[in-house]
Amino acid sequence: MPATDTIPMPGLAALPRVRVARPRRFLMCEPRHFDVTYSINPWMDPGKPVDTALALAQWTALRDLYRSLGHTVEVVEPLDGLPDMVFAANGATVLDGKVLGARFRHLERTAEGPAYLSWFAEQGFRDLHWPEHINEGEGDLLVVGRRILAGSGFRSDPRSHREAQEFFGVPVIGLTLVNPKFYHLDTALAVLSDDEIMYYPAAFSEGSQAVLREMFPDAIIAEDEDAEVFGLNALSDGRHVLLPEAAVGLQRKLRARGFEPIGVDLTELLYAGGSVKCCTLELRS
Ligand code: ARG
Repeated sequence: MPATDTIPMPGLAALPRVRVARPRRFLMCEPRHFDVTYSINPWMDPGKPVDTALALAQWTALRDLYRSLGHTVEVVEPLDGLPDMVFAANGATVLDGKVLGARFRHLERTAEGPAYLSWFAEQGFRDLHWPEHINEGEGDLLVVGRRILAGSGFRSDPRSHREAQEFFGVPVIGLTLVNPKFYHLDTALAVLSDDEIMYYPAAFSEGSQAVLREMFPDAIIAEDEDAEVFGLNALSDGRHVLLPEAAVGLQRKLRARGFEPIGVDLTELLYAGGSVKCCTLELRS
């Protein structure tokens, strides 16, 4: 009788990993003043009416969902006249308790940078950096374990990548976005764990696609139809992956990898070109 440990178990490597959620601390901003009054990305049409009450209800459901999953949600007071302030992901980047402020490309959002940074100062965060170069926070700076993937092409200045690397002291890998519908990195790529991502190749330059293949050969690849409904604007806690409910293909692929996808309805915020991840800034201590 062979010992059990000598019995070959074909296919074991293909079994999904056991996924464990790590409690997170998030910052969000209620869409009390949400509206589409200008257009700075192809999703925004100021001619279309926006239902602010519905946006508020959808946002509240997301906040409550985070809390029910055991996460802490802090809120920053929304400011009148800043309709995009609901997209907290753009407000800063936080790693090891250090806060890199955001500096926006468009005048319409400029005032959000100092508004978010003041919140951090008031909360007692000590290591704050006001950026020299344009960076739109976690819209373009995504932390993957002890690395940062950094987008440019539409919003963040590539020089901000080096600035982030100097400030945080972790490697920053620059990626170039080429499709205006996917104007921030977090519209085309989502972080799933410390070493896994999912992304939409067509949103990136040839060279950046090659870099992503090299770094993440096993990444989940999004199809057009999932990317088009903003399926990559997702938030993972290591086990649960919250993403737009219309992204059914990605939900299937995530389930096959052992994740627990949770579809979220944030369709009203999509009129501004935002969804789950855009509404969420992670506060990493
Ligand atoms: N209307 C906003 C803009 O174009 C949407 C920002 C979405 N946020 C994000 N993290 N992708 O700037």
